[in-house]
Amino acid sequence: MPHDAKPDGSKVIVRPARAVQGVVRIPGDKSISHRYAMLAAIAEGTSRFQNFSAARDCQSTLDCVIHLGCEWKRLEDGTIEVRGVGPRLKAPTEALDCGNSGSTMRMLSGILAGQPFTSELCGDESLSRRPMARIMTPLSEMGARISSSEGGRPPLKIHGGPLKAIHYRPEVASAQVKSCVLFAGLFADGETVIEEPIRTRDHGEIALRAFGAEVERTRNISWIVGGQRLRAIEAHVPGDLSSAAFFLCAAALFPGSQITLPGILMNPTRARLLDILMQMGLKVSVAHLEEHHGELIGTIEARGAAWKGAVIAGADTAALIDEIPVLAAVAPYTDGGLEVRDAKELRVKESDRIAAVAANLRKMGAEVEERPDGMRIPGGQHPHGAELDSFGDHRIAMAFAVAALRAEGETTIHGADAAGVSYPKFFEELDTVAGR
Ligand code: S3P
Repeated sequence: MPHDAKPDGSKVIVRPARAVQGVVRIPGDKSISHRYAMLAAIAEGTSRFQNFSAARDCQSTLDCVIHLGCEWKRLEDGTIEVRGVGPRLKAPTEALDCGNSGSTMRMLSGILAGQPFTSELCGDESLSRRPMARIMTPLSEMGARISSSEGGRPPLKIHGGPLKAIHYRPEVASAQVKSCVLFAGLFADGETVIEEPIRTRDHGEIALRAFGAEVERTRNISWIVGGQRLRAIEAHVPGDLSSAAFFLCAAALFPGSQITLPGILMNPTRARLLDILMQMGLKVSVAHLEEHHGELIGTIEARGAAWKGAVIAGADTAALIDEIPVLAAVAPYTDGGLEVRDAKELRVKESDRIAAVAANLRKMGAEVEERPDGMRIPGGQHPHGAELDSFGDHRIAMAFAVAALRAEGETTIHGADAAGVSYPKFFEELDTVAGR
């Protein structure tokens, strides 16, 4: 056994591997699952989702919609069935607990802003530190009254009601903010426009269209007319490319490794990862391309070869924001190292991901230069196993389990159960492909 999870799952030991080989069925995409669950709640009819994300985060979304009068159940084959209540939800009788999920809090707020009642949203310790002003500003402009803790932090109290359409230009490039504003736009009178500084993932627009709404988009501007009603859908959720990233990076660590990942999301606003990995030397091919409700899906075949360095900056940083932790964790093993710029947002994710990556790499004996909005990790290093911390962050726990595969000696990851926030079976799956 390469890892021994304690019964509480809080500690995982990862032993070095010699290669990575096999087929992994990656759970459904988290971003799409959240949006499908929220839109299904306000649609007319019963929606069914196969391969819905297994993430704790998406469970938080489903738990919240129950408190808003919407029923859901898991069928025997794992399909999630959500019975929509139409645009008017039921007033919740208790605070909506978003757990660790910023997506739940930010996007659901858009829907709650248009409801004729008051709702409260809270979250765990990590979520309670995360900035919410980015959604409070546009929703307030639209007419909702929102209060928060000091500094625009959760919990939030939203007094919803009739909304007016706005033309909004957010300062931060955030798909969560864009979806929040477009969802609120469904309840506004007139045309709501959001103009982003950098184009972000477009799952909100695609999901709204799948549910029958008309949403327009050109480059970085998206708009929606209020008052449209949504119809239930039956959909298959593509495998999460951000979860696939851990296995692709694991394969990249060992020349000759080979990994097959069927049914993975290939949406161009997410697939920049594949370009970067190929540029770094991973051999990637994609087969069986299909489209489901506007989202592209394909089977990824990847082979480890050379492992070169890269620079991630500007629009690439926004496109790779969830994958930077694992790319950084494996950067010491590259030839040329990794430089990440324009990544201030990483400091306000589930943890301060720049500080967390730097702390763990240093514990592994690797050199890293930490910057306010990025980092530089030299290549050609030989990290050793160490006692590491997840910092309560799923992507940090998984990133360092991958990095540990090529370290000298054993690595212990404390707080490893955080992985369940996006990928509950991650360590078991990594185990099945790590050859020793
Ligand atoms: C997400 C967008 C990203 C990403 C998050 C999920 C989404 O956040 O980091 O994990 O589903 O829209 P931002 O949009 O805040 O950058």
